[in-house]
Order: sequence, then C-alpha cells, then structure tokens
Amino acid sequence: MSAKDLFSAVTIGNLKLKNRMVMAPMTRNRATEGAIPQAMNVEYYRQRASAGLIITEASQVSAAGVGYPGTPGIYNEQQVAGWQKITDAVHEEGGHIYIQLWYCGRISHPDLLPDNQTPVAPSAIRPEGEAITYEGMKAFVEPRALEINEIQEIVSQYKNAAQMAKQAGFDGVEIHAANGYLIDQFLRDGTNTRSDEYGGNKKNRMRFLNQVLEAVLEVWPSNSVGIRLTPENSFNSMSDSDPQAHFNYFITQLNTRNLAYLHLLEGDMMSAARNVDYRALRDAYDGIYMANNGYDKTRAQTAIANADCDLVAFGIPYLANPDLLYRYQNDQALNEADPVTFYGGDEAGYTDYPFIKEEIAETA
Ligand code: PHB
Repeated sequence: MSAKDLFSAVTIGNLKLKNRMVMAPMTRNRATEGAIPQAMNVEYYRQRASAGLIITEASQVSAAGVGYPGTPGIYNEQQVAGWQKITDAVHEEGGHIYIQLWYCGRISHPDLLPDNQTPVAPSAIRPEGEAITYEGMKAFVEPRALEINEIQEIVSQYKNAAQMAKQAGFDGVEIHAANGYLIDQFLRDGTNTRSDEYGGNKKNRMRFLNQVLEAVLEVWPSNSVGIRLTPENSFNSMSDSDPQAHFNYFITQLNTRNLAYLHLLEGDMMSAARNVDYRALRDAYDGIYMANNGYDKTRAQTAIANADCDLVAFGIPYLANPDLLYRYQNDQALNEADPVTFYGGDEAGYTDYPFIKEEIAETA
C-alpha cells in the first residue's frame, strides 16, 4: 500500500508538514483600522493549526494594492507586530504558516485607495461587476494602464512585503498570481493587451510575475516560496484565449525556480466547468503540486493516491471546521459553513465554529 495519503507527512522546502492538508487562503475582512491583524485573527489561525500548512488570507503589499474593506496588509511595522502574534500562536501549536501576498489592481475602487486614486492594471479594461466599498457595492471603474516605472515600484513593494513577512515570523510566502488580481491580470490575455515588453506574447505576459518572484527571492530561499495560479477561473471578469497552452508554458518556466510548491485553483469558482486538463499541467511541473477547489476527503484521498497532487488545500471546510484533520481522520460529520459571516463582522462565524470534541463533551 502506498504510504501517501492525506494524513501522511510530506517535506516542502525546509518544513516537515505533519499531513498533506492545507488551509486555503480565504479573505475574511476582519483586520482593524490600518489593515492590522487583531486578537480574533490570532485565535482563528491558532484554532486551525493542526493543518499541515496554513496559507493566510491574501494580504496587500502596499496601501495601493488593496481591493476590499478590512483586508490585512504586510507593508509596515504595525502590521508585522499584528502578524507576529499569529505566527507565534500557530508555531506554539506545532503548525506552519505562509502568508499570501497580493495586489488587487483593477479589482478595487477609488473609494478604497489612497487619495482616491484610480485602480491600476496592465491595460485600461474595466471588469464587469461591482467593487465592495465602505458604502456598499459600486460599479468597477476603468483602470489606468500602468507605466513601466510604476510596475518597477510595485515589484519593490513585493520585496518590502517579503521582508516584512520574514520579520513577522512566517515560514514562507505564497505569491498570489491567481483569481483576477494584478499578477493574473498580466498573465491572461483577456486583461493584458499591452504592446510593450509586458504584453503581447506569453513570455512578456509572464515578465511581471517573474520580476515579482525575483524580488521575493532576494529575501526568501526559493524553497520557502509558493505560487498560486488559476488557468480558467472566470471570477473577477477574467478570460484567456488558450489556458492549457499558456499555463503549460508558465508552469514549465517555474520548474527552474525550485519553489516550495505550485498551488492551482482548478476549474472555476463561478461554475463546475473544467476545460483544462490539470493532470497534464501537474505532469508539466517537476515539484510539489497543491490542488484546490471543491475537494472533500474522498476526492482528496483519491487525488493523492493517484499522484494527481501532493497536497490539497481546503477552503470552506477549514473555515467551518477548525478541527478538520480530526474530523477527516475519524470520519466525523462537518460543521456547515454560514456564508452570511464569511466577509467581515466579529467572532460569530469566525472563531465560534465548534470543535467536535467540545460537542461530544456537551452531549455526554
Ligand atoms: C474575495 O474576496 O472574494 C477573494 C479574495 C481573494 C481571492 C479570491 C476571492 O483570491
């Protein structure tokens, strides 16, 4: 029998993970003023530290990178102090934690940005839909196409964020190159119609990701850096003319980097459609492959047994079940997630999902 199952240990970079279950990055909009993590965030991550690895909610690398109210940042000392309490708590429980670095680009709104500036993107293409602002939903605006010197400025913000992440005690960083945020806006040709060295062909569309990666690699060893990609997720008004070929190229290029892992959100968050062959992408990648999107225990076990992936990231199951590992190991029922409390609010629907051992004690 293969020793590889969801509950078996695996080494990524310099970390020995106790199991192959990863808490997926999830936006929860519960940071305080100044994008600083607070006490309830510490408790939330501490509760989930039995995961082999936690990837934090996406955290903006500068004030101009924000796209939603209440998301945390990782660009100044106050934020580092807030995150330090989280990394300490997770480490005290024997867990491991990476921080996800993001810059939202066109998925933002002047109401959210310093000096009410216009959101930026590779090209001036307005997303369909609405931004979430402090005053409720407002239509997305047409973003401004970045100048080359501004692209370099954002790359240096990623480097600063990588340094802050190190200072805050994280085990590594995940570069968020997925879901229609700035890096993904460069990667996919539905949002990148530039005619300079950042657009036009797949090599040029990957240039911004490569520069961000190189900036982060000045701070972190490559085996402490992961990357998340979404070849076909249409969320945030995204599209690409040939995701199989383009992402096969991007992934093949990443082989030379010796990263901690490659993390793919497979398929589409908006529908059950799957038009990309993920096994082919997985086979094109030489390192550790983390799969995500709609996995439950059975699917995860099958995928690991078939070597379709090495790690599985669980989102909503982890949101609602701090003791997901115990529940899966013991074939216990799961708490149901409450979507009303996903984004923003207080401890309700955040740190009050029960552990099964508490439930057993209460009913005994
Ligand atoms: C969201 O806030 O809905 C969100 C944020 C980051 C993601 C995906 C979704 O990568």
